[in-house]
Amino acid sequence: MILLPGLAETEPGHVDIKSRVSKNCILNIPFVSSPMDTVTESEMAIALAREGGLGVLHRNCTVEEQLEMAKKVKRAEAVVIRDVVTVAPGQSVAEALELMKKHNISGLPVVDGKKLVGILTGRDVRFADLNLKVESLMTKKVITAGEDIDFEKAKEILHQHRIEKLPIVDKLWALKGLITFKDISLRGKYPSAIRDGEGQLLCAAAVSPFDLERAKKLDRHVDILVIDVAHFHNVRVFEATRKILSGVNADVVVGNLGTYGAAEDAVTKLDGVAGFRVGVGSGSICITTESMKAGAPTLHAVAKVADALADYGADLPIIADGGVKNAGDIAVALAAGASAVMSGNLFARCKEAPGTVMAVGGRYYKQYRGMGSPSAMVKRYSLDRYSQPAKGLAEGVEGWVPYKGEASTVVQELVAGLRASMGYAGAKNIHELWEKARFAMVTAAGAEETRPHDILLPSESTERMK
Ligand code: XMP
Repeated sequence: MILLPGLAETEPGHVDIKSRVSKNCILNIPFVSSPMDTVTESEMAIALAREGGLGVLHRNCTVEEQLEMAKKVKRAEAVVIRDVVTVAPGQSVAEALELMKKHNISGLPVVDGKKLVGILTGRDVRFADLNLKVESLMTKKVITAGEDIDFEKAKEILHQHRIEKLPIVDKLWALKGLITFKDISLRGKYPSAIRDGEGQLLCAAAVSPFDLERAKKLDRHVDILVIDVAHFHNVRVFEATRKILSGVNADVVVGNLGTYGAAEDAVTKLDGVAGFRVGVGSGSICITTESMKAGAPTLHAVAKVADALADYGADLPIIADGGVKNAGDIAVALAAGASAVMSGNLFARCKEAPGTVMAVGGRYYKQYRGMGSPSAMVKRYSLDRYSQPAKGLAEGVEGWVPYKGEASTVVQELVAGLRASMGYAGAKNIHELWEKARFAMVTAAGAEETRPHDILLPSESTERMK
C-alpha cells in the first residue's frame, strides 16, 4: 500500500503532527510504545512523553511494580511536586543521605509532623558526621512561597535567592508542595513534552480487563488505562470492561479489536470508552495469524473501526497497533483513519527499553519478545491477554532487534519521515491527511521495482546483481 502524491501547500517541516490518543489526551507526536516487558517501563514512558508521545506501561509484573513505574514517571517532572520526600529533624544524616540516594534527589524539606521546620541539602551534609541529627545541620530560615504562587514568580524567587528548592506552605506553615530548579529547567529542555495539569508527564498503563483492583490502584497515578487483551470482542471481556469503565476516572482505551462489528458493539454496548487500540496479529513478534489463522491486520482494522466510528458518530481516536516498520507505515496507518500509532519493535531497539544491549559479530542488539511468547508467559501476569484454551500455546516469538540508541533519536527520525510522507500526500495536519489521502495497492512486481536496483549495496551480497 502506498500514498499517492497530492497537491502540497505546506513544506514538510511545517506539517503539524499533533493528535489525540484518547478522548481527553493530546500528543505532540502520534507515537505510542507498546505495553510489553521488553519495551515500556518508566524510562521509556518518560523518554517518549518528553518527546511528545506516550508510553504504555506493561503489566507483566505485580501491581506494586507497575504502580512504582507509574509513580516514577509522574515524579520525573512537575510544576509543583505534591508527594514531597521529607525528613524529620530527629533523623540522622545517614538516614537523610539514604533518602536522597534512593529518590535521586539533592535536598529534603525537614518537617516536624506536617510543619516545615527547615531544609537540608546535599551541601549541608557533604562532609558531616553521619550520626549527627538533621536539625543540627539544616537551614532553619527557609525561603518559602504560598499556595497561590505561579510558575514565573517561582522562577524569580529561585533566581533572586540563588536557591534550588522552594517549599510551598499554607498559613500554618504546613508543607503543601515543592518547586525545584530542576523541574523548571526540564520544561525548557523538553519543549514538546506532554504534561498533565500538574506539569507531570503524561502516562498510560495496561491492565487486564479482569483486574479491576489493579485498574483502581493505577487510576490515581496515570492518565490513561489501556485494556490489554488480544481479543477484546468477547462477551466476558465486555462485562469486565464495563466494571472498569464505571470504576475509574482515567481515560479508558479498549482493545485489541479489528472489525466493524467489534467497534460497533463497543460503541453501542459500553459507556465511556475513550479510544480504541486496533489490529490483531500484525505485530512483528506475533504468530497468532499464522498458527491460528485468525487476525485483523492493522490497516484493515483501522479502516473498519474508522468506518464504524463514523457511522455511529463516535468522535474517538484510534491507535493503530502492530506491524509498523518505518515512518511510511505510520503515515499509511494515520491516513487510513488512525490518530496515533503503537509500536513495540521500533521502541524495543532504544536505550530506554528494559533489557541489556548485546554484541553479536560486531553489531549491537536488544532483546524483544511477544507477550504471548513462551518466556514472557512464564511470568504469568499477562497470561490472560491470550485466549483461555491457548494458554499452553505460544502466540508470540522472541528474539533480538538492532540497537538504535536513545529514543529521542529514533523518534526524531520517525517524525522527519512522517512529515515528509504527509508532505507528499499534500496534508498539513492529520485531519487533512484523513480527508486528502489517496491509496494505491502495489503489486509484488511493483514492490520489487520500487526497491533500489541495478546497484550493489554494501549490505547485500553480489547475488542480487546476477
Ligand atoms: P510490533 O510490530 O511493533 O507489534 O512488534 C507490537 C504489538 O504486537 C502485539 N503483541 C503480540 N501479538 N502475540 C501476538 O499475537 C504476541 O506475543 C504479542 N506480543 C505483543 C501487541 O499488540 C503489540 O503492541
